[in-house]
Amino acid sequence: MKAVVATDYGLPEQYEVAEVPVPRPGPGQMQVRIAAASVNPADVKLPSGEFDFAGTVTDLGEGVNSYAVGDEVFGTAVPRVLRAMAGTRPSLGTGAMAEYAVVEADTPLIAHRPAALAAPDAAALATAGQAALATARAANVRPGERVLLVGATGGVGTALLPLLAAAQAHVIATASDADGDAETVRTLGAADVIEYQESDYPADVDVAINVVLPGDRLSAVAKALRPGGRLLTITFPITTPDMLGRDDVELRFILDMDAELASMHDVAEAGARGELRATIARRYSLDEGPQACADFVRRHTLGKRVVVV
Ligand SMILES: NC(=O)c1ccc[n+]([C@@H]2O[C@H](COP(=O)([O-])OP(=O)(O)OC[C@H]3O[C@@H](n4cnc5c(N)ncnc54)[C@H](OP(=O)(O)O)[C@@H]3O)[C@@H](O)[C@H]2O)c1
Repeated sequence: MKAVVATDYGLPEQYEVAEVPVPRPGPGQMQVRIAAASVNPADVKLPSGEFDFAGTVTDLGEGVNSYAVGDEVFGTAVPRVLRAMAGTRPSLGTGAMAEYAVVEADTPLIAHRPAALAAPDAAALATAGQAALATARAANVRPGERVLLVGATGGVGTALLPLLAAAQAHVIATASDADGDAETVRTLGAADVIEYQESDYPADVDVAINVVLPGDRLSAVAKALRPGGRLLTITFPITTPDMLGRDDVELRFILDMDAELASMHDVAEAGARGELRATIARRYSLDEGPQACADFVRRHTLGKRVVVV
């Protein structure tokens, strides 16, 4: 089969499309013929395969009862070398930017894909949608609360905006001056749009959500909060209270590998209902997979870049 491969650690320009053996499912695993895969920041940080996919089950390993050959599925599966950061029922995979992948069947991070959620949208929403849903549930915003969303134009940010807007929050979203970005984030639910600079952050927000800045660079985001406000963040390094310069705000780091806040089944349902929406910057063929990764690193991306197989 064809797959996008990194033969060595390096830049995405060095990835290539190569012929590799089709992976076979072992006990508790299933083989999926990939329909679409999307690019995540961690994919290019660790060049060993894409995480998010949608596809059709084509073979089952021993002991898999929850799926059948022909089922449409989607989800996220991290490379096996990342086992240490995976949850207790981990979703490990052979790499989704390929014609076939083998993934675990017994994990809350893979689910049946409803017909109302197209395969490219499902691939775009797997990691980003699950992180967005988990963060929205943890934030639990109330109608009228002022929410600062830093990183609103990315994969997670574009998925999170409609959820915050549906909760009737007043969302102040960051966007660069790239063509159409401000308009898109407004369409997704932002009430106000501001530039990236810390000097533009508003004061006295009830909730600040960071989905882009490193976790140890959040003091300006924390400064935007009113006393007693809530700061939610999803990036590494994990933020500790001393990094914020404030002890009068609540701090929460969201990484929901065990799907305690949101499972892929929840993403499927929210996607089918239109509550979670995929924003796709550009679609690529599998042969253009290395280009998709390079564009993700080198160019501004509004939402997700998706490889359609
Ligand atoms: N904990 C979790 O569960 C979880 C899950 C998924 C992702 N993550 C992490 O969350 C982060 C974001 O993921 P993602 O998939 O949304 O990434 P992404 O698609 O690359 O989005 C990042 C967005 O932030 C924008 N941006 C860059 N610098 C900014 C700044 N100073 N202020 C405001 N916005 C800025 C980028 O715009 P430009 O294109 O203009 O630079 C881009 O639109 C990554 O670090 C990822 O590893 C965590």
